[in-house]
Amino acid sequence: MSERVALVTAAASGIGRAIAAELASTGWRVIVADIDEVGAQTVEELGTGHVFVQCDIGDPDQVSALMTHVSGQFEQLDTLVNNAGISKPALIGELDRADWDRIMAVNLGGAYQLTQAALPMLRRATAASIVNISSIHAQTVLPGMVAYAASKAGLDAFTRSLAIELGPKGIRSNAVLPGFVATRQWTDWLDGYDRERRSRIEAEIAACVPLGRPCAPEEIARVVRFLAGPDASCINGVSLLADGGLSNRSYLLPSAG
Ligand SMILES: NC(=O)c1ccc[n+]([C@@H]2O[C@H](COP(=O)([O-])OP(=O)(O)OC[C@H]3O[C@@H](n4cnc5c(N)ncnc54)[C@H](O)[C@@H]3O)[C@@H](O)[C@H]2O)c1
Repeated sequence: MSERVALVTAAASGIGRAIAAELASTGWRVIVADIDEVGAQTVEELGTGHVFVQCDIGDPDQVSALMTHVSGQFEQLDTLVNNAGISKPALIGELDRADWDRIMAVNLGGAYQLTQAALPMLRRATAASIVNISSIHAQTVLPGMVAYAASKAGLDAFTRSLAIELGPKGIRSNAVLPGFVATRQWTDWLDGYDRERRSRIEAEIAACVPLGRPCAPEEIARVVRFLAGPDASCINGVSLLADGGLSNRSYLLPSAG
C-alpha cells in the first residue's frame, strides 16, 4: 500500500498532537497545522517525513495558504482530521458577538473551508476519510457553553451531511465526541481554582464519569486512527462518543450513592 497522508489541525499539542503521534507511529505521514509555532518541535518529535504548517484555522486566508502549501508537497490526502476547537465560557446574556464569531470561525468555519479545499486531494486517495473532533457538548449541555455547544452540534450535522454527499465518492466522514480529556485546555481551567476547590472538582469529575477518570488524549487518538483506517471501512456518518460513559448519566445524586 502506498504511504498514507493525514492532515491534522491544531496538532501542536493536546488531542491533536496525540492523533498526529498515533498516526505517525502507525506509518502515516502527518501534516501538523497549528496556530502555535511550537508545532515545528512537535513535528521533529514525530520523526522524519512529517510537516508543520503554521495556520490559524479560523482565518480563511491562512486556511487557503495551508492548502496551497499541502497540495504543493503531496499528491493525495488520505485523511483530514478537523480537530481545531476553542471555547470561551459565557452565559447567553454576556456572550460577545466577537467571541461567538471567533468560536464559529475556528470550530465550524475552519472545518467547512478546509474540507472543501481538501476535496480534490481526498478524491485522489483510494479510501479517504474525514474525522471531525466534536464534543459531548454537541449532545449534552452545560450553562456558559452556548457558542461552543452550538458549534459542536453544527459540526456533527456537518459530518452527517458530508457522509451522504461524499460517501458516493468514496470518502467517509465521522465525528468523535470526547468528554473530559486531560489536555492543557483542561489543566489551565483547573489551575484557575485554589487547591481545595480543584480537588473538589476533580472528585466530582471522578464521580460523574462512569470510568472514574478523564480520558487520555492517546485514547481519543486511537479512536481516530480506527475511524480513519480500513477497519472502519463501512462506518460513515456516526458521532462516536468517547467520554468514558459520561453522557449516559442522567441526574447526579451523590446522596443516592
Ligand atoms: N480537552 C477536552 O476535554 C475536550 C473535550 C471535548 C472535545 N474537545 C475538542 O478536542 C479538540 C482539541 O482539544 P484540546 O483539548 O486538545 O485543545 P487545546 O486547547 O489543548 O489546544 C490544542 C491545540 O490547538 C491549537 N489551536 C488553538 N486555536 C487554534 C487555531 N485557531 N488554529 C489552529 N490551531 C489552534 C493550539 O495552539 C494547541 O496546539 C477541540 O476541538 C476541542 O473542542 C476537547
